[in-house]
Amino acid sequence: DLDAVRRLIRAAERPVVLTGAGMSAESGVPTFRDAQTGLWERFSPEALATEEAFLADPALVWSWYRWRARMVRSVAPNAGHAAVAAWQERVPALEVVTQNVDDLHERAGSRVLSHLHGSLFAFRCAECGAPADVDPGAADDGAAGSEADLEAMLGHQPPPCTVCGDGLVRPGIVWFGEMLPADAWDRAYAALEACDLAVVIGTSGVVQPAASLPFVALGAGAAVVEINPDLTELSPAVTHRLAGPAGVILPALLS
Ligand code: APR
Repeated sequence: DLDAVRRLIRAAERPVVLTGAGMSAESGVPTFRDAQTGLWERFSPEALATEEAFLADPALVWSWYRWRARMVRSVAPNAGHAAVAAWQERVPALEVVTQNVDDLHERAGSRVLSHLHGSLFAFRCAECGAPADVDPGAADDGAAGSEADLEAMLGHQPPPCTVCGDGLVRPGIVWFGEMLPADAWDRAYAALEACDLAVVIGTSGVVQPAASLPFVALGAGAAVVEINPDLTELSPAVTHRLAGPAGVILPALLS
């Protein structure tokens, strides 16, 4: 299958890469639904990634996202991110659409068309929506991303909005039950509808509406390739499946 997919990649004129948490796993950023231990169980994204959780305990939710931003600052893009960036360098028509809220694609040199679920580094007022300029900082002892760093973050109240003075600053993340940013969704949908190849990397394909995007590409007649060590909701529908980690498969595929 690797050769078949290599041929599809070479022939693709309007390729799209759609990534999920598995794309950043080899950088050391935990995924959401793999068998997690410890930290991720204690702070379940499902429980904290909601407006209700933020309103109920702003300090806890604020601390969690601020710690996740610091953790991303402390890791590096992996070989998979680098391979995608090199592909886009060669084929500028390549569009990168991600569910990830980290900036590892950008730090590897990719131009990202759409962050479907927002970004850990975008902050805004929960009331008036004004963008807030917040630096999540990085642990002074370089321990960002550690449990100790999270403990140090816990309990810090989110800053007040400096524009309206009423609201609290919240993470620029799409929480469960919230609408995706219309422009991010529209750009992603158009790209998947127009592509002739979609390479779907590191997503379990369970969270809507992002999980419907591979089917938009299939419906438009594109070939869809899945890169994932495990089977997912998407596996039965894709054209080709490459089983393995993104950081290993992508360099082999795109070299
Ligand atoms: N390379 C490729 N895929 C991997 C790797 C790897 N090294 N390691 C794990 N995976 C796969 C897992 O097998 C799983 O299918 O990545 C997928 C991660 O799935 P999830 O944790 O569900 O992440 P994702 O699909 O991106 O979640 C979607 O849910 O929590 C919300 O908003 C959050 O954007 C997120 C959305």
